[in-house]
Amino acid sequence: MFSEKPGAWDLIEEELSKPSIFRSRESLTPEYVPDKLPHREEEIKQLVSAFKHLVTSPGSISQRVLVVGSTGTGKTALTRVFGRDFTRIARSRGINLRYVHVNCHRNRTLYNVVAEIAKQLEIPLPQRGLSVKEMYDAILGYLDESDTYAIITFDEFHYFASIAGSDAVYFIVRTYDAFDTSIKRLNFVFVSLSTSMLSLLDPTTESYLLRHMVKLEPYTSSQLYTILRYRAEQAFYEDVVGDEILRFIAEYEGRDRGGGGNARNALEILRQAGEMAEAEGTGRIMLEHVRRAIMHTSRELISISEAVIYSPLHELIVLWAVIRLLRRTGKPFVKIGDVEHEYAMLCELLGEQPRRHTQVYEYVMNLKKAGVINARTSGKGIRGRTTLISVHYGPLDLFEKYVEDLIYKRMKVSKR
Ligand SMILES: Nc1ncnc2c1ncn2[C@@H]1O[C@H](COP(=O)(O)OP(=O)(O)O)[C@@H](O)[C@H]1O
Ligand SMILES: [Mg+2]
Repeated sequence: MFSEKPGAWDLIEEELSKPSIFRSRESLTPEYVPDKLPHREEEIKQLVSAFKHLVTSPGSISQRVLVVGSTGTGKTALTRVFGRDFTRIARSRGINLRYVHVNCHRNRTLYNVVAEIAKQLEIPLPQRGLSVKEMYDAILGYLDESDTYAIITFDEFHYFASIAGSDAVYFIVRTYDAFDTSIKRLNFVFVSLSTSMLSLLDPTTESYLLRHMVKLEPYTSSQLYTILRYRAEQAFYEDVVGDEILRFIAEYEGRDRGGGGNARNALEILRQAGEMAEAEGTGRIMLEHVRRAIMHTSRELISISEAVIYSPLHELIVLWAVIRLLRRTGKPFVKIGDVEHEYAMLCELLGEQPRRHTQVYEYVMNLKKAGVINARTSGKGIRGRTTLISVHYGPLDLFEKYVEDLIYKRMKVSKR
């Protein structure tokens, strides 16, 4: 009978007809750029004052600004919001200004960074065969021809500096020393966790960047409260999140209350609590959801996840091997040789061709530079020097699950 409903019909209908508590789930994802940034007004003003010349006398100088702050202090959001709005205003005044945001976790070599800049500026380049310098020349040439200026942000610049090295950093920082142009079209924002990577630079450049530094302090609970309120209004329907919920999260994470002052953690707790409320159909977020979300969101995992989300597949497999060994042995560190064995075994399991020793070693070093693992050379105690690898946070089972999921997701995409 056609009119007969299949077994789960009523159940499915009922579930589908339940109203969602989310007005906009996307607005709580890490990629989302909010409209405004409460409590970062001063920092926006500092950026405007640093880049004012682009409106008053474009081309006169090439500005370089350093933005520093710990994870979740809004560095990425600040630069994106500033870039988006500043370029709009400059364009409304007849200045052709573009904003480019390069994530250095995703683009780790000078070549990739420069190619990414060209891509975001929509500059047509031959597919292959160009050197970095030729590409850079092509970009500068294009900007001249089209009378365009650009602000380029290097997000996670400390990572680029440690992986690509000081020559690559200089290539960028010294743009207008090497290219003798009278009109300076490129301007830079370097985003970093700390000022420590500046030691790579010569004292003149270092003091220049220190003078043009915007520093973001961790958020206090009352600041986090306003931020959460604003973001919750966008993400959820009315009456879904009570005030006590937002205060609870803000106090947990606020710097003045011993938390990390990290807006990303606060928003992730809110998002997870929302998912729980949605799944349970309670219609509003309860304190119990928040408590459970706090249990689930390991602070470290959230910040580590940012570091590995763009890692190449095989770097992730190496990381997986490290975590599995650490879990299995219960020891504080594992030897790189054992990691390689485990890695080869996992490659077989995944149907992947294992990379060579030197490449595996490089992955280990990259993971170390990204702060995901610790690696050091063994002392005399262990025969034949070897590299010892450890991971300083946990729980490892959650970390393993995260990495494993990421690997399978990545493989699905690449096999498409
Ligand atoms: N002042 C703010 N107002 C609203 N949202 C904020 C604010 N600061 C940070 N956020 C949000 O918190 C999260 C973490 O910020 P992000 O810019 O990624 O930090 P960082 O780059 O310093 O690690 C993002 O979702 C961002 O949109
Ligand atoms: Mg960031």
